[in-house]
Amino acid sequence: MSGIYIHIPFCKTKCSYCDFYSAVSAQYISALVDTIGRELKLRENYLPDKKIGTIYFGGGTPSLLEKKYFEQIFDTIYGLYQVDENAEITFEANPDDLTPAYLEGLRSLPFNRVSIGIQSFDDADLQRLNRRHTGAEALQAVKNAQQAGFDNISIDLIYGLPYQALQAWEKQLDTALGMGVQHISAYGLTYEEGTPIWKRRESREIQTVDDDTMTDMYRLLLDKTGKAGFKQYEISNFALQGCRSRHNSSYWKQIPYIGLGPSAHSFDGTSRQWNVNSIKEYISEISENRIPAEREELSLSEQYNDFVMVSLRTTDGLNVCELEARFGADFKRFCLQNIKTFIEAEKADYSDNVIRLNTDGFLVSDMIIAELMKV
Ligand SMILES: C[S@@+](CC[C@H](N)C(=O)[O-])C[C@H]1O[C@@H](n2cnc3c(N)ncnc32)[C@H](O)[C@@H]1O
Ligand code: SF4
Repeated sequence: MSGIYIHIPFCKTKCSYCDFYSAVSAQYISALVDTIGRELKLRENYLPDKKIGTIYFGGGTPSLLEKKYFEQIFDTIYGLYQVDENAEITFEANPDDLTPAYLEGLRSLPFNRVSIGIQSFDDADLQRLNRRHTGAEALQAVKNAQQAGFDNISIDLIYGLPYQALQAWEKQLDTALGMGVQHISAYGLTYEEGTPIWKRRESREIQTVDDDTMTDMYRLLLDKTGKAGFKQYEISNFALQGCRSRHNSSYWKQIPYIGLGPSAHSFDGTSRQWNVNSIKEYISEISENRIPAEREELSLSEQYNDFVMVSLRTTDGLNVCELEARFGADFKRFCLQNIKTFIEAEKADYSDNVIRLNTDGFLVSDMIIAELMKV
């Protein structure tokens, strides 16, 4: 079954670390929702089959949308596709949007999962990140979602924030793990070039966290989530039994998905496609029945690279029999030859035809994956 991703490119304010595509204006919301409906129809035959197992509204800020807009998009999706009755249907939300009234409204829609961007419960962190909510509001948002009946709640956290000490991160984790959520995504802060926080680092206005502390923070994350009953299933993702994100897992299993809206990416099994990073251009092109997207047909080597990259980030690992079946014996040999030094260095394990990075491997996964790429 395929997946549908819908990008809602609006934010009330811009966070200092974020370089996802979004506009700080609500001006085009209604036109954008109409256009997403048109894109859905124009690209009706993009996916190899009509059965949909996951739908994900990401952003930007999907929780800025009023209920009627979600209804409009769902009407189109359900008219065009066969959405599985057990489909996982997620929306990303910012804590300040999750009022009881808003959540209550959304309960009558097909949503069964909410992913809340908390990042930190510490008000000083949140101010530096230019987040709109406080720590107390984040706690309340989760409670509101639980009281509204959501029983599959994910939260996003970021560690390695400026000035953050290991003990401060431990406190964040204790708070997060005491909330009764089913899923946690925790990312090390990336200083994306051009973002306000990157500029402050460049001009040495902020104190950054050193590499050793980042490593300690990651190990603490694994330790604490593990003791609380969460299973790691990807470098940055942790879930209670049965609560892995099926949508994100399908990216890692290379299941086809269609991405709608400005800047959204799609994958049909052998090619990638990405929509233009401009709300205005997106709306005007689609009104002329043109898809404003670039497309890249993937060579066998590129497909192999993608397969290695996504598989090795997961705890399920890379199955070399599957690799051989898809790409042939030469690719398998190349992969096994190049992973050898990392197995010897005890950063990767190889058993039952599966290569898996261990924690030491996850800590340097970019370097290991780079060594396994076909160029
Ligand atoms: C694009 S955001 C959308 C979610 C929602 N708008 C929010 O702000 O909560 C998805 C997640 O990516 C993560 N993220 C975005 N930029 C990041 C960065 N520079 N470093 C680490 N994590 C980042 C955050 O945890 C964020 O919740
Ligand atoms: S982190 Fe979320 S709210 Fe902040 S700018 Fe990025 S998409 Fe918008």
